[in-house]
Amino acid sequence: MLRRLHSLQPDSFAFTPANQAWAEAQITKYPKGRQASAIIPLLWRAQEQEGWLTRPALEIVADMLGIAYIRALEVASFYFMFQLQPVGYIAHIQVCGTTSCMICGAEDLVAVCQKKIAPKPYQLSEDGRFSWEEVECLGSCTNAPMAQIGKDYYEDLTAVKLGEIIDALGAGDVPTPGPQNGRFAAEPLNGLTSLKSFDSGQTKYNASVQRAMDIGDTVKRIDGTEAPLLVPWLGTMANTSKKSRKAGGSVSLGGKSNVSNKEKFGSTFNEIGSRPKSLRMARKAGADNLKMLKGVGPKLEKMLNQLGFFHFDQIAAWTEAEVAWVDKNLFGFKGRASRDNWVMHAEKFACVQKK
Ligand code: FES
Repeated sequence: MLRRLHSLQPDSFAFTPANQAWAEAQITKYPKGRQASAIIPLLWRAQEQEGWLTRPALEIVADMLGIAYIRALEVASFYFMFQLQPVGYIAHIQVCGTTSCMICGAEDLVAVCQKKIAPKPYQLSEDGRFSWEEVECLGSCTNAPMAQIGKDYYEDLTAVKLGEIIDALGAGDVPTPGPQNGRFAAEPLNGLTSLKSFDSGQTKYNASVQRAMDIGDTVKRIDGTEAPLLVPWLGTMANTSKKSRKAGGSVSLGGKSNVSNKEKFGSTFNEIGSRPKSLRMARKAGADNLKMLKGVGPKLEKMLNQLGFFHFDQIAAWTEAEVAWVDKNLFGFKGRASRDNWVMHAEKFACVQKK
């Protein structure tokens, strides 16, 4: 299969400060002169942040590692785990089409994706929320047919079940991963034949699913703030980039100055959808506490303020096209506005304020 860079590319890429610190820490794992060995984790992190690998991201990573751009492209185009085209901002669905899954109904799953998402693999759904592809065996053949969605496996699928999962994701829910037919793990369909005393009741789900539920990042982008940046080989946690903090959010990479927040929020907007009306500053009474919206923390609140949104009634008034614009312009948090249904939550808070 021919793997090329996508014809449409953004102007720039920057790791979030936390991801930048994480990436710099990864490079320290390798002996001097061998920093290029960090290429896969760095490219993967860039993809985790953005959803797909852009040309600017490849160039930034190559600069960080001191290698030619073509070397980064060689790696990215060789490994199929790297997406070289935009993927759905809620989820990219990878349906296994290899023997076991094919025999057990993978073609029906592909048909669901074609109907609900787009006729062709790698094609975005009309609203940009989903995409799909057929992949080779994902090593879960006992639970065929299956699909990987985000970071997790959905197994023992049927066409109906996959349809329901896509609908649930579209509505902002993340269905429980793992077997979808009531199996605990990969035991025989007609019940255990050995090790019958195994107590599956110790945890509600099998270990992988339990972990997925505990972390809750199935379809979440990684911005680097999820967990402490442990770098045991340095005997410490990674420093969050002092360079980044000093520059007020701009990140310096490999001697190159990258986009500043002003540029990021001021001139390089993704113009998908329609830009909602914004304010230069909060009204006299002060900004609302946008952290009350589902999934909004201090960082996201700051980003919303930088985009000119300070009040619940502003958000409550967003149309679908405006939500799409906001979704696309939440750098590092793309898709959150629709996924967490901010409009509905903001309506409630705005209503309470009026009373
Ligand atoms: S054949 Fe589908 S997971 Fe192995």
